[in-house]
Amino acid sequence: MKTVSQISELRAQVKSWHQQGLTVAFVPTMGNLHAGHISLIDEAHKHADKIVASIFVNPMQFGANEDIDSYPRTMADDQEKLTQAGTDLLFTPTADIIYPKGLAKQSFVEVPNVSDGYCGESRPGHFRGVATVVCKLFNLVQPDVACFGLKDYQQVQVIQTMVEDLSMPITIVPVATSREESGLALSSRNGYLTAEEKAIAPALQKNLQWLAEQIQQGYTANDSIDFIGLAKQASNAINEAGLKTDYLHVCHAQTLQPASEDDTRLVILAAAHCGKARLIDNLQVNLT
Ligand code: PAF
Repeated sequence: MKTVSQISELRAQVKSWHQQGLTVAFVPTMGNLHAGHISLIDEAHKHADKIVASIFVNPMQFGANEDIDSYPRTMADDQEKLTQAGTDLLFTPTADIIYPKGLAKQSFVEVPNVSDGYCGESRPGHFRGVATVVCKLFNLVQPDVACFGLKDYQQVQVIQTMVEDLSMPITIVPVATSREESGLALSSRNGYLTAEEKAIAPALQKNLQWLAEQIQQGYTANDSIDFIGLAKQASNAINEAGLKTDYLHVCHAQTLQPASEDDTRLVILAAAHCGKARLIDNLQVNLT
């Protein structure tokens, strides 16, 4: 695997692949890679000839009270994992390369509606930062395909909407969440959990599954479904397990608007604090 930090080196390599008629898949990351990221690279191999990954801890998506400096940086380990997974090119720009004029003077991309609420409400400005950096990285890498993990469900919808709204010629491939045996979604933030917190953290996914079953049963029985009441019960159970629910909502799977009786493709979106970590998770419910 070749590692480059300059835009000119990245562009020259991708241009040469495109001239040879090869397709390119892109996996953007912020590093501190785990098996979930590697599953994105594995998926990318199914869609293109060459794989480009990036590691960039994007300051624009961190809030004022979120400490970007303490975000784990594990470059040597990450390079090893990406090499093992068959990545062809790793782009590791600095903030000066991505935002040469500084953040205050940087143009940005705002994706309305899907960015509002949930993580968008808990982390103001977060999705503007994500959409802007992903747009910029897409323009630099010019991939045919890009892979994103469904653990960040709202992020995938924001990026998919941006690509559609701005007519970007890129196919977005959503990739299923990798989980520990306990059901806990793999995340860089799990590194903040103590052994005791790790034991209670699976309560998040467990209660999303309980909620999904209640919705499915109500639908099968042709009952009217109290999405808000059921979500409240799931959120109480998560709190009783020792976590602190930030939000938990049943939504339309694409628009992310609150679910209504007529919707059959739903997603339950949730975030909860567990010690120092803020965990997010979701579960799609296709009513049949
Ligand atoms: O999901 C992430 O790691 C980041 O939000 C992303 C997509 C790499 C943009 O910085």
